[in-house]
Amino acid sequence: MERTTHTPDLKGRRILLGITGSIAAYKAAMLCRLLVTAGAEVRVVMTPLAKQFITPLTMATLSKNPILVEFFDPENGAWNSHVSLGEWADCFLIAPATANTLAKMVGGVADNLLLTTYLSARCPVVVAPAMDLDMYAHVATQQNLQTLVSRGVRLVEPAEGELASGLHGKGRMAEPEAIVAYVGKMLGKDDKTLKGKRFVVTAGATIEPIDPVRFISNHSSGKMGYAIAEELAQRGAAVTLVSGRTALATPAGVERVDVLSAAEMYDAAVAAFEGADGAVMCAAVADYTPMEVSDRKLKKGDGELTIQLRRTQDIAAELGSRKGDRVLVGFALETHDEEVHAEEKLAKKSFDFIVLNSLRDAGAGFRGDTNKVTFIDALGHEELPLLSKREVAGRIVDKMEKLIR
Ligand code: CTP
Repeated sequence: MERTTHTPDLKGRRILLGITGSIAAYKAAMLCRLLVTAGAEVRVVMTPLAKQFITPLTMATLSKNPILVEFFDPENGAWNSHVSLGEWADCFLIAPATANTLAKMVGGVADNLLLTTYLSARCPVVVAPAMDLDMYAHVATQQNLQTLVSRGVRLVEPAEGELASGLHGKGRMAEPEAIVAYVGKMLGKDDKTLKGKRFVVTAGATIEPIDPVRFISNHSSGKMGYAIAEELAQRGAAVTLVSGRTALATPAGVERVDVLSAAEMYDAAVAAFEGADGAVMCAAVADYTPMEVSDRKLKKGDGELTIQLRRTQDIAAELGSRKGDRVLVGFALETHDEEVHAEEKLAKKSFDFIVLNSLRDAGAGFRGDTNKVTFIDALGHEELPLLSKREVAGRIVDKMEKLIR
């Protein structure tokens, strides 16, 4: 997790801070204070057990609002509406999030006010887990986190260090400064950082016809490329999305050019790269295409069938040769010797950096909504945690922004 000393501008942002029963709840006091200092309006919802770890009085004083724990106020019977809490918030930040609460979130359990609020929240939800290292590493917890991330919940990974148990490992809640920096990035004001810039994104699978009925293609869903196009557009850039086959809707503000074959994608991408400030090569382009395409459906015979294939043109390498000082980002999907292959591609295609996915990693790859990637550039490797594809897109665009001259 990135550390920063810079306080983000959260003026006018409404943050609902959820506290669950972990020893790390003491850090929620500092977290609340930092959010308030950054200008946010903070309300706090606690699970009943969380009250054992930090007093409602402390949190009420720091947040300048009464604390919500029960479904209704025991004094006067006033109803604490989870629906209106969820509607009020720009972000529901659950920190610390225990293994128990994470599991209940996955299962849709609604036995306290924090959980009912989660189930009805329409705003982005962020969790900062805190637990013992073995609980964190347990396959149940890891699968729960993966499920939550794939449903759009954002994860601020725990840090490594000394734990309340006295053991040392991964599980301690991220530091309050790091959590505030994360929320600041998500809700911060100055988000049109790419206004006036233009980018090309290739996405999805190409289709190489064999005859009018059959084709050669691959499993790419296009989700990663579409998420990048959406992220660039949201930051104010003009985006041409050169798209192979996908079932996805065009992201808002993006110009989409539909293509079928690698040859069509080549023409569209090369044309769009004229006058662009950079490109992200996310498409799964066929490396081979049939030498001949039959204009009639091929009929089966008794023997074997051989289809001769020829190489397609490498779109990324072509843009690499025209790149100049523009930004070019590539992808590599590998099953073995991942980093060696990715480094070869980085050099061969003149990428500024390459985003490596390994099909060996749980939660990475084609159809899912999560991804686990490593950035590789001339300076080295940076391994990212499991994130939603949308968050991976955010990280890629952050890195691109640093490279834009
Ligand atoms: N790429 C491209 N045009 C092609 C082939 C690949 O633009 N004709 C881009 C992809 O979008 C991706 C990168 O190049 O950014 C992947 O490199 P590549 O060498 O094609 O990977 P593989 O096809 O997986 O290569 P190999 O078969 O050697 O593993």
